[in-house]
Amino acid sequence: MDKLLIEGGVPLRGEVKIDGAKNAALPALAASLLAEDREVLLENVPQVVDIRTMCRLLRDMGASVEEEGTSIRILPRELTSLEAPYDLVRKMRASVLTLGPLVARYGYAKVSSPGGCAIGERPIDLHLAGLEAMGAKIDLVDGYIEARADRLRGAEIYFDTPTVTGTENLLMAAALADGCTVIENAAMEPEISDLAALLKGMGAKIEGEGTERIEIQGTTRLTGARHRILPDRIETATYAAAAAISRGDVLIQGTDKEMIASVIQKMIAAGAEITSEQEGFRVASGERLQGVDVTTAPYPGFPTDVQAQFMAMMALADGTSVIREMVFENRFMHVAELRRMGADIRTKGASAVVRGVPSLKAAPVMATDLRASACLVVAGLAAEGRTQIARIYHLDRGYSSLEEKLSRLGARVRRVKD
Ligand code: EPZ
Repeated sequence: MDKLLIEGGVPLRGEVKIDGAKNAALPALAASLLAEDREVLLENVPQVVDIRTMCRLLRDMGASVEEEGTSIRILPRELTSLEAPYDLVRKMRASVLTLGPLVARYGYAKVSSPGGCAIGERPIDLHLAGLEAMGAKIDLVDGYIEARADRLRGAEIYFDTPTVTGTENLLMAAALADGCTVIENAAMEPEISDLAALLKGMGAKIEGEGTERIEIQGTTRLTGARHRILPDRIETATYAAAAAISRGDVLIQGTDKEMIASVIQKMIAAGAEITSEQEGFRVASGERLQGVDVTTAPYPGFPTDVQAQFMAMMALADGTSVIREMVFENRFMHVAELRRMGADIRTKGASAVVRGVPSLKAAPVMATDLRASACLVVAGLAAEGRTQIARIYHLDRGYSSLEEKLSRLGARVRRVKD
């Protein structure tokens, strides 16, 4: 397994270009299963492991999938399998996004029930309840979810809690259902609107995406389309945190800071200087940051996927920061690793109290999940000495060319084979 070595203490300077959003490309790939006759062409797709896993899943189902750099062409010819097997789903839970398209287009889906995950139980009961409301028969057999429906019918669906992939699964299912579907308390993330834009390009009739109420008028067939994936707001926030913690000055390009307005507001409150620029924005910070409180919430609240990276910043800020993780029940695994680097953090339930320390000390640390890994990279950039991060396969799932991008910003970082 590879490791990342980071010599801390270098202020990042220069420009970084943000890739397409992994969490928009994954549902877009699943949505391509809905196309009847023409291919779906996706552009600006990030070259990360999760995307390769999803492409493999589609190929295993019989679709033709051609990857050309950051473009992917998908043609779901007659599929030979309507199954998402356990060995793929356990690697990538987002495989459950094939459930909606398969049962809507082919009347059947067999998807391994996603097991637990490092950050929480992450059930998909709301996905399944929504499909049942649309007339699907759902069975759990040998750890697999089997969904059957001659034809899904429109329904009124109310989510107890906003679920991103739940909203995406039902958006895709409703696009081919008979009649009108309304999703109440829908997730409002920008990735939902991006998926809706693709589906509309394929012929779907959708209104209200990006709000808590989405209305979908089902149609009988969807065709291919060309769609450019929106920039990755979590990667954007990760490089913003890296620029701020290292007291650097970085132009973050090919993205839109409005997608992370809640993060920008907290970074400014902590003392970072944020200025809009052509095609992006600049993050600079000369002084030590100030501790600010953060509570994660569904969009447009503070993104849970940025909580760990922001905590790394707060570990070196003046004063105290109270960080509350309200979306997942176990998303503080980076805390123990930050403490190994000298951070002063105490957790109690969903809250972490972070007291800023004068400096962090490099240490061998271990990545436990995708965003916790990003947190350790951010901390390593500012720590004294050489931080060694193990199990960085977690990072490779959601960040492409991380060490190249950081090196171009002046960081002393390299990947070594373990
Ligand atoms: C998506 O996961 C993202 N993944 C996650 O990003 C992100 O952390 C999460 O949304 C929240 O923003 C992708 O888009 C591929 P949820 P998802 O359903 O859809 C509960 C990353 O780092 N819930 O919005 O699985 C659930 O337990 C990943 O890129 C139910 O109770 O998250 C959680 O507490 C990590 N029942 C809350 O809702 C359900 O049926 C939000 O989960 C579904 C969800």
